[in-house]
Amino acid sequence: KKIAIAMGGYSSEYRISINSGNVVYHNLDPEIYEPYRVHILQSEWFVVAADDTPYPINKSDFTVAINDEIIQFDCVFNTIHGTPGENGLLQAYLELLNIPQTTCGYYQAALTFNKRDLISVLKPFGVKTARNYFLDANDPIDTAKIVEKVGLPCFVKANRAGSSFGITKVKEEAGLYAAAKTAFAEDDQAIIESFLDGTEVSVGVITYKGEIMALPVTEIVSENEFFDYEAKYLGKSQEITPARISEEDRDKVQEIAKMIYRKLKMKGFTRSEFIFQNGEPHFIEMNTTPGLSQASILPQQAEKAGISLPELFGSAIEAALI
Ligand code: DAL
Ligand code: MG
Repeated sequence: KKIAIAMGGYSSEYRISINSGNVVYHNLDPEIYEPYRVHILQSEWFVVAADDTPYPINKSDFTVAINDEIIQFDCVFNTIHGTPGENGLLQAYLELLNIPQTTCGYYQAALTFNKRDLISVLKPFGVKTARNYFLDANDPIDTAKIVEKVGLPCFVKANRAGSSFGITKVKEEAGLYAAAKTAFAEDDQAIIESFLDGTEVSVGVITYKGEIMALPVTEIVSENEFFDYEAKYLGKSQEITPARISEEDRDKVQEIAKMIYRKLKMKGFTRSEFIFQNGEPHFIEMNTTPGLSQASILPQQAEKAGISLPELFGSAIEAALI
């Protein structure tokens, strides 16, 4: 089966996505799959051949001509973080073309990529979250009102972004202006959240061999002020799997993560972040194309669950092809 590994994307997460895509490229069972590296960039979409020659993708049907052969892909393995791979655009395009892909549907992707909208959908299911305040780039920044709503310190985040791009921890009211500017460099919407003081965990939920399963929970201990870009990718954090939490807390957070997966009718891989406060997991966000690079959390969790990367990735493709 010909598998297009879609990587790159149009956002600040471009580099991380290339790393994720290359990990998939090197870890698909060669007896079953023929992998192609497909770079999806704002300027152009192209296949990178084994000898690094680029071949342009025909965007009208997602085929590629290589040495006079027209290649049609059986499945797209989507490893694009951020737009257009994690917000529904690529999903909708591929659905129109009837090409299976490994992540959730376009609606689920658009919803989960929007931190504010996801929180409001999850609240009626009893999911606890931080207190939050939404800010559009056109809104006046009423710092007194923000502090009244969320307190200090607080986190100012781009509403639709990943890998901590556009996130600032703010300790003083005056810092809100600069933080909003940082968030608006990534998105024209920002979400400001109260600080939750407790253990942060990351929970992978996947469909594996037809079953929805939660992977071992990872505890995140950042050496920086929070789990920022440097902590995530440049070694400034410890990621401890399994997390040093009680079995009861582990079961609780895994059940919530699986409940969210089921209620939203997710597919493929998801990784949700929670922070425990007063013994209760508070939902922070969900990633539907979680990082698959060497530094990323989900592959570490799969390994602890005894699932090899070829098994993990193969299972995602088989689920997409059903
Ligand atoms: N957004 C990054 C890639 C992650 O969730 O792993
Ligand atoms: Mg994220």
